[in-house]
Amino acid sequence: MSDTNRRNFLKASSTVALSAGLLGRLQSGAFAAGDDTIRVGLVGCGGRGSGAAKQALSTEGKVQLVAVGDAFVESVDSSLAQLQKAFESKPERVAVDADHKFVGLDAYRKVIDSDIDLVILATPPGFRPTHFEYAVEKGRHIFMEKPVAVDAPGVRQVLAAAQKAKEQQLKVGVGLQRRHQNCYLDIVPRIHDGAIGDITSLRVYWNSGGVWEPRRERSQVRSELEYQLWSWYYYNWLCGDHICEQHIHNLDIGLWLKQQNPVKARGMGGRQVRADKRYGEIFDHHAVEFFFGDGTVMYSTCSHMSNCYHDVSEHAVGTKGTVDLNNNSSPRDNRVTPFTGEAYVYRGENPDPYQVEHDVLFKAIREGQSHNEAESGAMSTMASVLGRMCTYSGKEITWDEALNHGARVTPENMAELAFDSAPPTVPNEDGVYPVPVPGLTRVLA
Ligand SMILES: NC(=O)c1ccc[n+]([C@@H]2O[C@H](COP(=O)([O-])OP(=O)(O)OC[C@H]3O[C@@H](n4cnc5c(N)ncnc54)[C@H](O)[C@@H]3O)[C@@H](O)[C@H]2O)c1
Repeated sequence: MSDTNRRNFLKASSTVALSAGLLGRLQSGAFAAGDDTIRVGLVGCGGRGSGAAKQALSTEGKVQLVAVGDAFVESVDSSLAQLQKAFESKPERVAVDADHKFVGLDAYRKVIDSDIDLVILATPPGFRPTHFEYAVEKGRHIFMEKPVAVDAPGVRQVLAAAQKAKEQQLKVGVGLQRRHQNCYLDIVPRIHDGAIGDITSLRVYWNSGGVWEPRRERSQVRSELEYQLWSWYYYNWLCGDHICEQHIHNLDIGLWLKQQNPVKARGMGGRQVRADKRYGEIFDHHAVEFFFGDGTVMYSTCSHMSNCYHDVSEHAVGTKGTVDLNNNSSPRDNRVTPFTGEAYVYRGENPDPYQVEHDVLFKAIREGQSHNEAESGAMSTMASVLGRMCTYSGKEITWDEALNHGARVTPENMAELAFDSAPPTVPNEDGVYPVPVPGLTRVLA
C-alpha cells in the first residue's frame, strides 16, 4: 500500500464505524493488503516531547517515529538518542532518517508536512495554537501537551481549530493525564453520581519548590529571543506563568468535578522568593477564587517556593460529604467521605496515566472512535489564563470578558517567528524585565 493509501486507510478507519469483522481482522493484524502502521512526528524534542514519543511508540500495533523537529539541534539529537536506546529491542520504531530531522522555528511545518498520521506537539505552550491549527489544516491526528495556549486569543484559536478537527473526525489528545488516571476515573464519576451531594466549594493546589533553573547565559546565545526560548518557563508569552503551565492540572480537575466553567474570578499574587532578574517576568505565587454560576467557590493556590508547605491536590465539599484527590494515587489521599457512613477509599491499580492517555488516543485512531480533548483542554487552559489575568491585574474579571477580550501576550506573528524577531518583552539595560504590578497591569485588550 502506498503511503497516501495507507494514510487514507487509517483516516477511513477513523471516520467510518468499522464492522466488527473488519475491526477484528485489523486488530489481529490480518488486514492482508493494508499497512496499519501509524507514523508519528514529534515537534518539541524536550523532556515531555521525548516522553510522549516513547509512550506513543509503546502503544499496541505498529507505530513508527518518522520525523522530528525542534528549535535547537541539541534537543533533536538528545531526544533521538534517548528514544533509540529505549527501543533498542525494536529499532524499527525509531525510523527518522537524516532528511526528517528538522531544526529551527519553522521545524513544526516541516514535521507536519512529512508523511505522518499523528503529530505530538510538545513545545513551550505559547506556540501551541499555531502548531495545532497547522496540524488540523493538514489533517493530522494530534497529541498536544497542556496548556494548549497562554492567552485568550490563543484559546480562541484552539477552539476554532478544535471545531475543524471535530468536523474532520481527527483524534486529539491533550496532556491532562489525570483524566486518564485510575484514581480520578474511579472517583470523579462517583461525585457526578451524587456521592457527596451538590458541590458547594472546591480547593485546588499546586504548591511546590518550583522547576528548573534558567538554561543559558546571554553570552551563549544569538539573540534575546533565543535567550528567552532556552529558559521559556520564565516568560509569560512562552509559558503562561506557572498557574497556567502547572496548576492547570488541578484547575482541570476542579472543572471536571464541577462540570462547568467559572463565571468570574479574583485573586492576588506576586514574586517574592524567585525575584532575581534571571527569572524573567513570572510570579512565584498566585491565589485565586473562582466563582461558579451557583455561587460555589473554587479556591486555588499555586506557588514555587522551597522550604515551605507543599501540596499538589484537589478537594471538594458537597452537601453530603467531601472528596479528596491526588495524583499520587495513595489510598490516604483518594477518598470520598460522606458526612454519615463509611468513607470510600480508592485502592485500585495505578497504571501510568501518561501511557494510558496515548493508549486511548491510538486505539481511537485504529478503531474509529471519536476522541477529541481539545475543547475541554482549552477550557481548563482558559481557567488558568483567567486566574493569571486576575493576579496580574488585581481586578475581578468575568469568564466572558477574559475569553472574549483577554489581551494577547504572544506576538501576532507566531507562525513566522525567527530567532532575530523581537520578543514581546525585553529587559532594561540592567537585564531586568518588567514584572506585572496589580492595580496597574492591564490584561484586557
Ligand atoms: N502533562 C504533563 O504532566 C507535562 C509534564 C511536563 C511538561 N509538560 C508540557 O510539555 C510542554 C514541553 O515541556 P517540557 O518539559 O518538555 O519542556 P522542555 O524545555 O524540556 O522541551 C521543550 C522543547 O521545545 C523546543 N522548542 C521551543 N520552541 C520551539 C519551537 N517554536 N519549535 C520547535 N521546538 C521548540 C525546545 O528547544 C525544547 O527542546 C509544555 O507545554 C509543558 O507544560 C506536560
